[in-house]
Amino acid sequence: MTDAITIRRPDDWHVHLRDGAMLEAVAHYTARQFGRAIIMPNLTPPVTTVAAAEAYRQRIMDAVPEGIDFTPLMTCYLTDSIDPAEIARGHAADVFTAAKLYPANATTNSAHGVTDIRKLTGVLETMQEIGMPLLIHGEVTDGDVDIFDREAVFIERTLAPLVRDYPALKVVLEHITTADAVEFVNDASDNVAATITPQHMIINRNALLVGGMRPHNFCLPVAKREQHRLAVRKAGISGSAKFFLGTDSAPHEISAKESACGCAGIFNAPYAIETYAQVFEDEGALDKLEAFASLNGPAFYGLPVNEATITLERAENPVPATLGEGETRVVPFHAGETLRWKLAAA
Ligand code: DOR
Ligand code: ZN
Repeated sequence: MTDAITIRRPDDWHVHLRDGAMLEAVAHYTARQFGRAIIMPNLTPPVTTVAAAEAYRQRIMDAVPEGIDFTPLMTCYLTDSIDPAEIARGHAADVFTAAKLYPANATTNSAHGVTDIRKLTGVLETMQEIGMPLLIHGEVTDGDVDIFDREAVFIERTLAPLVRDYPALKVVLEHITTADAVEFVNDASDNVAATITPQHMIINRNALLVGGMRPHNFCLPVAKREQHRLAVRKAGISGSAKFFLGTDSAPHEISAKESACGCAGIFNAPYAIETYAQVFEDEGALDKLEAFASLNGPAFYGLPVNEATITLERAENPVPATLGEGETRVVPFHAGETLRWKLAAA
């Protein structure tokens, strides 16, 4: 039995670090494990300008403890009226690594998102031209589409035509939850990839509803049926370069989750790499963890892999029931459980 694994330092290709007190409270969890992270721009107000992204990047750096080598990779929040020139300027200046497409009102802080993808023609042409990845929250928001079908319908109605019309555009379908998404990404060109969260490899929709409503298992896209979890899990451990690590860690203070209208988001950052390691081990695929966590993402983004390494040791790793205090009190994914892997001190 393997008792320690050493892999290149991983990156998180999709994380919500928030701002203010919550940023201060959570940044160290991500920085402890990951060399880089793609930072989601859904703040209030959203990050839509180069200046806002530079300022936010600085606030993140200020929140990361001294001595940790961590690089936040910033993203631009796309709106109906965003100027392609601002996006190109930010990309050229190494401020915007990618741009994020939220369909309007699909999820937390997405009210300023895109109402119709046709409004992005100039933006998408520019991004294709300059090789800037488009990161997609792939759900339709139409009221007549069942929430469990929103990803599959998005793929059919929006993503398939998008990929056809912009064949050279780099596209990441974020936090995939369905067999439909796995199949679409597998069949698409090398310009199309996907991130996979720990929760979508681990829970299906029963985890939300059986035995009572469990708001801490609610995120968007919502977990689907078991057959979809199995398809996503298989894709993640497959070793395919099209799939890589993106936690979608999304902290919400406890009362915002345990509420009559609870926020979407699972806070998995504190034990993310240990959680993924457990999944890969359960699948007999620990040898594929490094590709998923540390190699495939940089290859897709055209960035070098991290030089440093991390070591995971087999050790009991109890997850507390809550973390933080007051306005930053959060319930982590796997609260109250004991994980089998532990990140060794650097
Ligand atoms: O569950 C989610 N939470 N999904 C998202 O897309 C956004 C995120 C958040 O910001 O809380
Ligand atoms: Zn997200």
